[in-house]
Amino acid sequence: MDSREIRSRFLKFFEKRGHAVIPSAPLVPENDPSVLFNTAGMQPLVPYLMGAPHPQGKRLVNAQKCVRTQDIDEVGDNTHDTFFEMLGNWSLGDYFKEDAIKWSYEFLTSKEEGLGLDPKRLYVTVFEGNNDAPRDNEAFEIWKKYVPENRIYFMPAKSNWWSPGDNGPCGPDTEMFYDVTERGLGDMTKEEYMAADDRQDVVEIWNDVFMEYEKEGGKVVGKLASKNVDTGSGLERVVMMVQGKNNIFDTDLFVSVMGKIKELVGGEIRDVRASRIVADHIRTGVMIIADGVRPANTDQGYILRRLLRRAVRYADVLGIGHNMLAGLVPIIAEKYTGVYDNVAAQATFIADEIRKEEEKFRQMLERGMKEFAHISKRGGVSAVDVFQLFSTYGFPLEMTEELAKEQGITVDRAGFEAEFKKHQDLSRTSTEGKFKGGLANNSEKTTALHTATHLMLAGLRKYLGDSVHQAGSNITEERTRFDFTYPEKVPRDVLDKVEAYVNEAIGKHSIVKIEQMKKEDAKAAGVEGSFWEKYPDVVNVYSVVVPDSTTYSRELCGGPHVVQTEGMGKFKIVKEEASSAGIRRIKAVLE
Ligand code: SER
Repeated sequence: MDSREIRSRFLKFFEKRGHAVIPSAPLVPENDPSVLFNTAGMQPLVPYLMGAPHPQGKRLVNAQKCVRTQDIDEVGDNTHDTFFEMLGNWSLGDYFKEDAIKWSYEFLTSKEEGLGLDPKRLYVTVFEGNNDAPRDNEAFEIWKKYVPENRIYFMPAKSNWWSPGDNGPCGPDTEMFYDVTERGLGDMTKEEYMAADDRQDVVEIWNDVFMEYEKEGGKVVGKLASKNVDTGSGLERVVMMVQGKNNIFDTDLFVSVMGKIKELVGGEIRDVRASRIVADHIRTGVMIIADGVRPANTDQGYILRRLLRRAVRYADVLGIGHNMLAGLVPIIAEKYTGVYDNVAAQATFIADEIRKEEEKFRQMLERGMKEFAHISKRGGVSAVDVFQLFSTYGFPLEMTEELAKEQGITVDRAGFEAEFKKHQDLSRTSTEGKFKGGLANNSEKTTALHTATHLMLAGLRKYLGDSVHQAGSNITEERTRFDFTYPEKVPRDVLDKVEAYVNEAIGKHSIVKIEQMKKEDAKAAGVEGSFWEKYPDVVNVYSVVVPDSTTYSRELCGGPHVVQTEGMGKFKIVKEEASSAGIRRIKAVLE
């Protein structure tokens, strides 16, 4: 069974059990400055897990594209990757533990409809309880119907409580593990099982979270309005287990990419880890570029740059010639035709971006090597030198260390780390914070400002014309910062009209409606949107309306938004200024 078949079996299995198949949201969460990429399947669904009604009902299923970079140093082992797809099914206040567990078990083991995995290789963990929630005896009792009791282990919150960050929906979970050893592990005590987990002899295959609690500021503060189920199963790992491999790079998702790398090396690959890093980072780069990001020094663009440059360095370790990495793009794109068609459609463009970034990096490498030659004459690399090599020429610490070793000189590593930390604190705090992942900031104020931003754009288009579109936005709890296309300063009296438009919509107690539409239909219906190419074929359209009367705004979006405008506050535009050529910037608040 290949990855395509596995993905589609998952969706069909749950569709048959009443779930609506929803498309993957784009990798970059919209209008959400607190996180760089979606890092879990549930992330785009947070507003619905918190109680907003989903337009497609209470049972949902999808495969969600995710990027996680916090484990980047582990990439190259058997199971870590920076891009992955998460298969997930959700119950929004509908079924709970009984059905979630039954269906997980059935899908894993059924030969006809599921994966046909061996039930004798399955192990399960459940939550042992703490001050926030009791021991999950209910999950334990349900599991006993499917798995021998001595293969179900009670575990603490550290492993069996899932929350996407310090705020938002959370709850105890039950996790399923699969034995990937050749001999088979058989019955194990809890200690033996934990040791097997450490050795990666058992690998986590699925996580069912019973989301009925809410966290604020890192603490559980109470129960949600409804009991939800959030499940997540990493496609790459599932494919690995179904295909009987002990690492993801031997599965059909990677085999053709690894084959091409071998061809580029021109013989046996001696450094397996390096080849896996190249395959992983280029694949992630391809998916990120396909979703609209370009290499840059901040935010998503910075992560992309770092991944591509790291791939170039490891390509050098492998002895792959210059400018060959772009050749991997069509092979990667092929794996996603019919699944994420925006990859193949942009394959030439993506390959160009990768080639350009490699060239840029190599030019810097050359100049950096000259600088390094000067430094090495001084007999040692000081912290300031390391920092300069890093910040001006993009030399990561490990590379400077390798070069120094070759020359037989020392590096002030401790000094550099202190210096680097200072630099991070000064200029990259936000990017680094987001790099670590975490939950979107969906506080009420941010959500209200997001809805106000939609209304403002509609107002701007009403008074300045249809050539006005969104060019970027950044919303915090305090304010919205909004960039839009317009060639000249917007007079204050027009801003006043826009303000009045927004406040009228708020004052009329409008509601926010979500529709799912085919992308072409939405375009044809005049729905406002930028970056259409980033979106899947079926899109969410958010409208702010007074039912049966006025539509104040109708825009393509990923949410979240308020359910109704009552109580949002008074909207005020506090600043309007130039942002870049042809782009204006507004700062606005809700008081
Ligand atoms: N949110 C959980 C996870 O990411 C289950 O989907 O593991």
